[in-house]
Amino acid sequence: MMTYRPRRNRKNAATRNLVRENTLTVNDLIAPLFVIEGENLSIPVDSMPGQSRFSIDLLVKEVKELAGLGIPCVSLFPALDDSLKNPTATESYNDNGLFQRAIRAVKAACPEVLIMTDVAMDPYSSDGHDGLVDATTGEIKNDETLEILAQMAISQAKAGSDIIGPSDMMDGRIGYIRDALDEEGFSKTSIMSYTAKYASAFYGPFRDALDSAPKSGDKLSYQMDYANKREAIRETILDEQEGADILMVKPGLCYLDVISEMRNQTTLPIAAYNVSGEYAMVKAAAEKGWIDGEKIMMEMLMAFKRAGCNMILTYFAKDAAKLLAK
Ligand code: PBG
Repeated sequence: MMTYRPRRNRKNAATRNLVRENTLTVNDLIAPLFVIEGENLSIPVDSMPGQSRFSIDLLVKEVKELAGLGIPCVSLFPALDDSLKNPTATESYNDNGLFQRAIRAVKAACPEVLIMTDVAMDPYSSDGHDGLVDATTGEIKNDETLEILAQMAISQAKAGSDIIGPSDMMDGRIGYIRDALDEEGFSKTSIMSYTAKYASAFYGPFRDALDSAPKSGDKLSYQMDYANKREAIRETILDEQEGADILMVKPGLCYLDVISEMRNQTTLPIAAYNVSGEYAMVKAAAEKGWIDGEKIMMEMLMAFKRAGCNMILTYFAKDAAKLLAK
């Protein structure tokens, strides 16, 4: 006699539906989008098939479509002309800059959609780094960067950002930005911290999209070493103490163990960023006919839920939302 037959719980669709441990819904999805200057422009990102850089008018159109599919949140990134970049990223807190105008336009057209905005110097910096670069030593200066990040966050909040997403990995930035937002009257603006952001080659296609790769050096002195897991817990504790509302792990797929560990350590919601390189790999293999792109997409997204995520930033958001609606 065989007492235990786990296959009984898999015997048909109805049983499998009853015992399923995790679900993926459109409410879990955050769609990252790129914005550029101009009108009626949609410039495809070669290394991210299906993704484009949109001028503000087409960005608004895209967000309306995503809203129609039930996607609750978009995360916006600006691709700026090189002429607007400088060592101190002053364009990042220009209240009439491309990014701020994009935030206002999306908010006006789709007030029900949450807008998340990235805080880091790289899209605005002539050095392509997330923090201030010391001109003589090349070092990324921590404390001097915080003031710029705070101004950027305030400018984004003023424009209508609902969730500030510091992706820079400077020490102490969550507390610094929280204080700055509160002092300016933005106590309702949330912070989703890029808590465990690893120095990763998976960001390659994103840097193509924004032309934001570092002009020299790498990001190893501020983004985390991918050999480390306990360090993510250290960052979790600090971000909690500094007042983060949501914690993020980035990249996603190679870091499910980190998500799972953080899930056990914090009561805060956790997000994963299913980044550009992860998206590009699936698209490229699917284009070659080597894998079933849609099925792999859904399996990956569910893996984030199984690991303990509440939400997923993913370039698959629109495709997945369409599939979930069927
Ligand atoms: C900027 C930033 C990056 C990403 C999100 N915000 C790139 C980087 O840190 O170099 C990557 C997102 C992706 O690859 O999809 N600090």
